[in-house]
Amino acid sequence: MKIISVVGARPNFIKMYPLIKALRNTKHESLIVHTGQHYDSNMSDVFFKELYPDKPDYNLNVGSSSHGQQTGQILHGIEDVLNKEEPDIVIVPGDTNSTLGGALAATKQHIVVAHLEAGLRSYDKNMPEEINRILTDHCSNLLFCPSDSAVNNLEKEGITNGVYKVGDTMFELAKMLDNEINAVTLQIAIPDEFILTTIHRAENTTNKKLLQIIKEICKIKHDVIIPLHPRTRNKLVEIGVLAEIQKQVTIIEPLGFLEFSYLLKKARAVITDSGGVQKEAYWNRIPCITVRDTTEWIETIEMGGNILANPSEITGKVEYMLTKKIQYSENLYGFKDTSKRIIKILNNSV
Ligand code: UD1
Ligand code: UDP
Repeated sequence: MKIISVVGARPNFIKMYPLIKALRNTKHESLIVHTGQHYDSNMSDVFFKELYPDKPDYNLNVGSSSHGQQTGQILHGIEDVLNKEEPDIVIVPGDTNSTLGGALAATKQHIVVAHLEAGLRSYDKNMPEEINRILTDHCSNLLFCPSDSAVNNLEKEGITNGVYKVGDTMFELAKMLDNEINAVTLQIAIPDEFILTTIHRAENTTNKKLLQIIKEICKIKHDVIIPLHPRTRNKLVEIGVLAEIQKQVTIIEPLGFLEFSYLLKKARAVITDSGGVQKEAYWNRIPCITVRDTTEWIETIEMGGNILANPSEITGKVEYMLTKKIQYSENLYGFKDTSKRIIKILNNSV
């Protein structure tokens, strides 16, 4: 079979890697299409350098623009690749515009669409990711879910065919790279105790909300380290507060996966609005404060390792989580062999 994996944004590169690696050890022809949604070297190249031995087979170089323009360019660019390559299966990971563009282009050409990380729902359609997830699931033929709740979410929307609970490739990756992560030497000095923070989601980077969040984070009585996403950096520069904030918290460039995972493991707690970081905090047993109204990673909340916070609650909830006794379950998003399970299903699908 010829299998095309569509990636484009940081979380796509990370969650697809174990599966792309496993595909290399099969007889299938495996091609990578990078949409170019993320393009800075520390948002894209760094992951190819540290994880993938090969460059993507295609880069559509779509860059940054509005949702409609970006998704449209991705759809158009992937269609051309599909016409040329005629793959049997297109795999799309997660919930980014690249995910949706890839899924739409493939389903319109009656190519089997496999969605990695299917069935996640925050039940908040103001989040662009929620729209991307719902639409992608509804045009997928194979839906690879990390959890029972994801399977149940799909069932509620009438999707029961082609649904498989396979676990989480990011969990698999964390286990796979544990030794490399532990061996990282950071380029920056870090304090013994600190809170790691990542904020980048669209709903948190409006002028008003971002200022509220940053103001609260600056009040925290612990050292704070923020590898700053370019969306957030641009916004802080535009509002004119970056220099002031840098006096109060440590702001660094976005890190590669190994360095970021090392820093996460050393942190006392994490403040984030990322999807992936909530899970990573959980399986590394680091308390997590999620600056959102809802989360699709509901199990981390149910287990008590993660708590939602609005901006004004951040400092209080950090202190609460630092003293709270948390129960951790080793296999929340299960299985260290998710990609093998997926390949078995792919082998029987076309
Ligand atoms: C995207 C995903 C989001 C995911 C995030 C991971 C969508 C709708 N959103 O959000 O779900 O959590 O990636 O990081 O797909 N920029 C750069 N350099 C880059 C990339 C982006 O400067 O390499 C800046 C640009 O100003 C751009 C902005 O960041 O306009 C936003 O980038 P975009 O890819 O549109 O969305 P993200 O916020 O990165
Ligand atoms: N990440 C990274 N470097 C950073 C910040 C994050 O490698 O500076 C990794 C981290 O493992 C995270 C993943 O990128 O889980 C996903 O990225 P992000 O938070 O941007 O996207 P989301 O999961 O919110 O879609």
